[in-house]
Amino acid sequence: MARILTGIQSTGIPHLGNLLGAVLPGIELSNQPQNDSFFFIADLHTLTSVHDPAVIRENTYATAASWLSCGFDTSKHFFYRQSDIPEVTELTWYLTCFFPISRLELAHSYKDKVASGALSQVSSGLFFYPMLMAADILMYDANLVPVGRDQRQHLEFTRDVAERINHHVGKDVFVIPEARIQEDVQVVPGITKNADGSFQKMSKTYGNTINIFDTDKSLRKTVMSIQTDSLGVDEAKDPDKCLVYALYRLVAEADEIAEMREAYLKGGIGYGTSKQKLYEALISKFGSARERFNHLMANRDELDHHLDEGAKKARKVGIEVLQRVRENLGYKKFDV
Ligand code: ADP
Ligand code: TRP
Repeated sequence: MARILTGIQSTGIPHLGNLLGAVLPGIELSNQPQNDSFFFIADLHTLTSVHDPAVIRENTYATAASWLSCGFDTSKHFFYRQSDIPEVTELTWYLTCFFPISRLELAHSYKDKVASGALSQVSSGLFFYPMLMAADILMYDANLVPVGRDQRQHLEFTRDVAERINHHVGKDVFVIPEARIQEDVQVVPGITKNADGSFQKMSKTYGNTINIFDTDKSLRKTVMSIQTDSLGVDEAKDPDKCLVYALYRLVAEADEIAEMREAYLKGGIGYGTSKQKLYEALISKFGSARERFNHLMANRDELDHHLDEGAKKARKVGIEVLQRVRENLGYKKFDV
């Protein structure tokens, strides 16, 4: 059995790109019977960029509600808030004492921020970010860590610091994790195109998102505002250049997709109609998730309960590893 672990950034209410690119594939991975999954909301990492407590709280709730409403199974797996297990910061300390500062200075996450000239935004927390991430992983004896390509270096640091400590102690205190780089994740396009007509990645940063958890009315309004050309209903259209079709392909059933493709090529379908079909496909794919999301966001105690239970289970596992580390570094095990 492999233990899969990954941290989820909580940067707001997840949009269609987040759901198709991260949430649904993550849930699918966790559903593979041979896996034992630790998925957590990396809300301590959030503090490197967000300082407003209300935003931290709300984003964490919204992120948790979206994973739960899309079907993450908390009864089988571990789903928790990073900040609910404070021992992770203790482990971070041990790791920093075995990792050279010269290596941390090479971290892209930190170097990019420095290079952008935004020095006032470079806190020491941002500098130590990779050590907290290493602690997230090592504290639960994780074997496999699915992450995007941008996190590859953080995984190298994690393996490096774990190997340094194992070597120092002379035994395998830590399990050495493997990165599982998600190369094949499909990029979901946003509702507007680049100036040259190419598709643009859906991202909060570009303000081109489809917010699945919005009200019906505003979701429909967003879909109706997707950028198209001005070809008339009867004119033949190239489906591969159309954002509406590109999005429809990602959410509709195979026969519906084939039907829309044919109608585009032959002519006879207008953008009003294809947008309406896209809207209906979104409602059909995410209808029950949207209901559950609204329910959880209106019942925070229920959300807290899921997260608290998850933290309790994960903490037990984490504390065991931490005690092992303490003993091997010359500290007493603490009373639990
Ligand atoms: P944003 O770009 O909106 O700020 P994030 O960077 O917070 O989104 O992304 C969170 C997760 O969602 C990451 O795993 C990322 O790969 C995935 N994701 C975000 N946007 C897309 C997209 N347009 N297509 C596919 N996956 C995406
Ligand atoms: N840094 C990761 C990201 O930006 C999130 C994260 C925090 C993480 N801790 C982790 C991912 C541990 C994997 C394992 O996406």
